[in-house]
Amino acid sequence: MDDKVKQQLSDYKKLIEQKLDEFIPVKYPEKIWESMRYSVLAGGKRLRPILTLETCKILSGSYEQAIPTACAIEMLHSQSLIHDDLPCMDNDDYRRGKLTNHKVYGESTAVLAGDALLSFAPQVIIQNTKFLNNDVNSPEIILKVLEEFLTAAGAEKLIAGQVVDIDSEGKQIPKETLNFIHENKTGALFKLSMRTGAILGGADEKTLQAVTDYAEKIGLAFQIMDDILDVTSTLEELGKTPGKDQAEGKVTYISFYGLEESKKQVASLCKQACDILKQRDIKSDILTAIANSINERVN
Ligand code: IPE
Ligand code: IPE
Ligand code: MG
Ligand code: MG
Ligand code: MG
Repeated sequence: MDDKVKQQLSDYKKLIEQKLDEFIPVKYPEKIWESMRYSVLAGGKRLRPILTLETCKILSGSYEQAIPTACAIEMLHSQSLIHDDLPCMDNDDYRRGKLTNHKVYGESTAVLAGDALLSFAPQVIIQNTKFLNNDVNSPEIILKVLEEFLTAAGAEKLIAGQVVDIDSEGKQIPKETLNFIHENKTGALFKLSMRTGAILGGADEKTLQAVTDYAEKIGLAFQIMDDILDVTSTLEELGKTPGKDQAEGKVTYISFYGLEESKKQVASLCKQACDILKQRDIKSDILTAIANSINERVN
């Protein structure tokens, strides 16, 4: 990754963290707001909101109008992690290098912090989205963004993936089911991130489809990478306990295809993602670097 791209990524990350801090206040009862802030501000790669900002920027030349949506998607992602870590789900003690939310605040507050983030996130979009030039289509665009957001977060997408993930523990499942899990529990938020960035940037249907196709490839590659790192990485590197997938009997790309074949699939998906950018004439060093960095983490 060249220095210019590294700097741009770090600038995006800094902006996202500053805005997340601004958007989530501490009010009465402090315990719930503090627990929401604990998980959202705990760090993390901020990949999904970066994808939202960069997609908006390559299409419209600016990304200010996408900042509230980018932050809302990071809140949704954090919510999914708080609930994913609960004892009744994946039962994890560490996340982003810190104790998980329920370990610090207790299970009831962790469940409620997830619920609260999920309803607060669309509120952040509605209350803070500002359009450049006072675009007359603003309400229509915000409704489209909210529809994408609520669909991705719900039982048709993210929750569908999580339900089938949990139901499949310890079972033999066909590869279509494995792909259903990965596409929904993880792919849906990658698509959401880029589609909302594109909608806020005024994309036409063709461009919206192109960024959706790129997001589908890197979303799947990202979850396979996560499955691989669970086997090959350490607590220090991951910020979460490795080896948990096997311990919980999860069906992953590793348990299904083995390590070497999983690495090959990541390489192939990342190459396909870069090819989509070239073929559809989407010029972004950041999007190319993100696809390459997923591959480089495992290959
Ligand atoms: C973790 O996502 C959950 C998966 C979809 C694998 P990230 O690896 O993006 O987690 P953070 O945001 O960097 O902590
Ligand atoms: C991530 O799946 C999907 C969601 C959190 C929605 P994992 O269960 O593999 O994520 P990690 O490994 O706990 O981060
Ligand atoms: Mg899980
Ligand atoms: Mg998990
Ligand atoms: Mg995992």
